[in-house]
Amino acid sequence: MKSLTYDPPIVWQEINDGNPYTPWSWQEEHVHSRVDAKRLILACGRRSGKTTAIKAEIVREALKPQEEHFGMLHSPYIYVIAPNYELTMKVWEPVWNLFVGRAAPLRHLYKSHDKTRKLIELITGGRIQAKSADDPTGLQGDRVTAAFVDEAQDLNPDAWASFMPALADTDGRLVAIGIPKGKGNFRTYWQIGQEDDDRYYSASVTSLEHPYIDHEDLEEFRRDLTEAQFRQQYLAEWVEDDGQVFRNIDDCFDGDWAEPNGSQYLMGLDIGKMEDYTVAYVIDIKKMHIVARDRFNGLDYTLLGPRIAGLYKKYNCQTVHLDGSGVGEPVADILRNEGCSVTSFKFSNQSKATLVSTLAAEIEHGRVHFPKDDEILKKELELFEGVVLAGGAVRYGHPVGYHDDSVMAAGLAVMKAKKRRNTSSMARRSDYLTFG
Ligand SMILES: Nc1ncnc2c1ncn2[C@@H]1O[C@H](COP(=O)(O)OP(=O)(O)O)[C@@H](O)[C@H]1O
Ligand SMILES: [Mg+2]
Repeated sequence: MKSLTYDPPIVWQEINDGNPYTPWSWQEEHVHSRVDAKRLILACGRRSGKTTAIKAEIVREALKPQEEHFGMLHSPYIYVIAPNYELTMKVWEPVWNLFVGRAAPLRHLYKSHDKTRKLIELITGGRIQAKSADDPTGLQGDRVTAAFVDEAQDLNPDAWASFMPALADTDGRLVAIGIPKGKGNFRTYWQIGQEDDDRYYSASVTSLEHPYIDHEDLEEFRRDLTEAQFRQQYLAEWVEDDGQVFRNIDDCFDGDWAEPNGSQYLMGLDIGKMEDYTVAYVIDIKKMHIVARDRFNGLDYTLLGPRIAGLYKKYNCQTVHLDGSGVGEPVADILRNEGCSVTSFKFSNQSKATLVSTLAAEIEHGRVHFPKDDEILKKELELFEGVVLAGGAVRYGHPVGYHDDSVMAAGLAVMKAKKRRNTSSMARRSDYLTFG
């Protein structure tokens, strides 16, 4: 008969995707040796071992004996929480597989389960339930003795407000782990942990604390991110964010407009709606130089097509990338009729964030070049702002009275040119591997 006691080494035999879990030193120091912290708040880099540590601690917490709080005996009742369904399942499925099923390694501790409610009951009296913060009202509950939150930086304020009172009633435990991002509850709790409130413990852990982190991968991430993003996501720093998105702008305005010279080109196009400008940029893919632009407003779409197609043909562009929402589709059709190869990029908050952060990284590392006298683009880049919303998402935009059409068109051109270059250098590499 295996032990039923609160005995981590035994229950951790299978935690690490079926392999025994031996905590790394940071996991031991900041997670497993902090069972007395009522609020355990950890800001960690990506791939540092957050989810693994939290899974192990959930199992341990669930096997704790009953505790007395305010004169009442409570068996452990644990919420497993993440910002959305997918992230919740990342923690929940491995926990589920430890207890539920004929061959489950901790089957001897299992009492019952409810698949739809995502609930497991243990013979020791402990219960574990998964809750996705997609639906904050579902997070309300009573007698919860501990809540474990993964990717806590992205949990929305409503979600926090739904389950924190339940914890207060039982004098319960909060274990929240995530990357140091945003200005919401996660940040606030982490900050309290840095001050002297005995109930709170907070710490920061960099991705370098992963003992076998691949340093080549790390260098690649550094190349593709801005310095601020890298410090935040891997070095676990709370980067102070002054709203400015693009840095090192001036250094990139060192090129000239250039006539076609047989290089490879593509075009980024932002179509103006109402009084906005339509902006097209042509980029030299090999040099990552913006070499040509067209910019105008108030032109009828039937005239816009031939005008843009003219620039496209002059440079023999490979494709034109445009925002396919709104009037994008009809314009795309007109351009196709003019003989252009059109790829439409659907603007959403998510895709715009990718576009902006790719452009920001290329500019910051000085890997893209703009014509010296493109004052309009320079001004738009300087004024471009990112606002961190509650829950961690970023909304991008420009101050009232200014535009961001040039930024969007240049961003499309740069992002797609970068992708082209990566694909062709990968193709070269695989040629080499195959035939070299
Ligand atoms: N103590 C450990 N021993 C062995 N492997 C570990 C340990 N902790 C984490 N890992 C492994 O490291 C990788 C990253 O861990 P994960 O918990 O997913 O990190 P994060 O949630 O921070 O991105 C996973 O492959 C995981 O199995
Ligand atoms: Mg994780």
